[in-house]
Amino acid sequence: MPLTFLLFVKMPKGRGAAAFGVFMEKKKTRIAVFCSGGGTNLQALLDAEKSGVIQSGKICLVLANSRSAYALERAKGANVPTAVVTRRETGSQEAFEAEILRILREYGIELIVLAGFMSILSENFTSKYPKRIINIHPSLIPSFCGKGFYGLHVHEAALAYGVKVTGATVHFVNEIPDGGQIILQKAVKVHRGDTPEKLQRRVMEQAEWKILPKACEQVSREIAKKGETYERIQNQ
Ligand code: GRF
Repeated sequence: MPLTFLLFVKMPKGRGAAAFGVFMEKKKTRIAVFCSGGGTNLQALLDAEKSGVIQSGKICLVLANSRSAYALERAKGANVPTAVVTRRETGSQEAFEAEILRILREYGIELIVLAGFMSILSENFTSKYPKRIINIHPSLIPSFCGKGFYGLHVHEAALAYGVKVTGATVHFVNEIPDGGQIILQKAVKVHRGDTPEKLQRRVMEQAEWKILPKACEQVSREIAKKGETYERIQNQ
């Protein structure tokens, strides 16, 4: 409905006003968060939605590739629906991705946030959500990223190289591992005597848990502003 029309509509009163308010409420971007493990980044996203840092999007689904992912408990604690799809149970990469896409359709998902999701997604999958998948990586891309750089390996490599500053990056996901356009980055100092574990924790606390919710809001706002829906994303 054109805005000009809405401006000339007489404001209803009482129950009608409440209904009108709901009608006028901006549509939020429907988000799915993909996880594999502890889900501390998921927790940061859930907290950010609660506190209003994320206000243009709604976390509608948490999808894990393992039944034992603690992230599932965090989702249940926040009353967010969950789904588990495993590569082993689905049998092939195609079947794995087809099942995930089926679930995303069911929930009308418009933005996917990879928050410690350890499965590879093929180009066939990522091309279905162009600039609608974001990932958090625990280094300042283009350092310590790409094939083999995941989990503690990233921090081990940073320490072995002797960098004095590392950090985290949120980027769009495309067919190149850690190769999509950068959305946000935050630097973190390396301390003398750091172990990979200590550095990993500092990068999470000082960078990941801050920039992932911010980037999520930024991209959700863009999608909401463009009035994009699940159908439009799939038909582009
Ligand atoms: C984080 O370090 C993230 O950068 C990486 O995987 C880890 C996930 O941790 N992609 P958590 O499950 O969010 O606690």
